[in-house]
Amino acid sequence: MLIVGVVGSPRKNGLTSRLITSALEGAREAGASTKIIYLIDFDIQPWTPDRPKAPEELNEIMRKADGFIIGAPVYYLDVNGLTKDFMDTVDMGDSNGKPGLGIAVAGGTGKGLVLTIKSIYHFFFCKGIRGLEPLPVSRFNYEEAIKKAHELGGEVARQARERKPFRSLEERISYFHSLKYMNMDMVDEILLLAGQLLRTSPKVDLKEEANASYEKALRLIRSGRKEEAVKYAVEAYNLLYYR
Ligand SMILES: Cc1cc2nc3c(=O)[nH]c(=O)nc-3n(C[C@H](O)[C@H](O)[C@H](O)COP(=O)(O)O)c2cc1C
Repeated sequence: MLIVGVVGSPRKNGLTSRLITSALEGAREAGASTKIIYLIDFDIQPWTPDRPKAPEELNEIMRKADGFIIGAPVYYLDVNGLTKDFMDTVDMGDSNGKPGLGIAVAGGTGKGLVLTIKSIYHFFFCKGIRGLEPLPVSRFNYEEAIKKAHELGGEVARQARERKPFRSLEERISYFHSLKYMNMDMVDEILLLAGQLLRTSPKVDLKEEANASYEKALRLIRSGRKEEAVKYAVEAYNLLYYR
């Protein structure tokens, strides 16, 4: 059983690479063999009618895989171009029912960590890859995310033992619709980041004030007043944001 980890960042020693490494360690401990792929090592080009496929060497590895872990850095609130070009051009054969884990790494302000998860999981959706609980990562939850990646990597390996193909479009839509983070928007995302900052920001003296704004935003969202919640979610985020 082979689990392939894809590093979508051009930086081989960056945050994405470390998260993929941790996930693959988890997969190995669960009994899988693993392979790490750095997309920057391949000649991946944007899709064109004349050149619609990624390099065959890469396609072949992806076809052999029983499970996938894809990690991408966040550029302007979305998946970076290299990863997108890979997703647009990879020829992975029939991957219906193989398990996948998506990791999005927003290493700057944190914004885009959830929106990028959606892009990766839209790819999984199209390929019939059974996405596990996604892992959105910022600098603020990075340490816990490394551990979570390890745990989820193990889960990919366990699920890869028995392929569970989707039988219908209805089943596929229901499955992806019910996944954590898939229904979140920008407002939910900034509140999620404020929650991460509440746990890990060094600005301890501001946490009480930030928490009041956070709770207020949460209450407004729960009562269907999302427009009004933006102000308080941003207030909590801005108070605790650090570089
Ligand atoms: C063009 C560009 C756009 C970026 N946009 C965002 C962004 O929208 N949100 C964010 O949190 N970080 C953003 N970043 C920072 C990257 O997410 C960050 O450098 C991340 O660590 C990259 O992962 P790596 O360490 O694996 O390379 C951007 C970086 C670049 C180069």
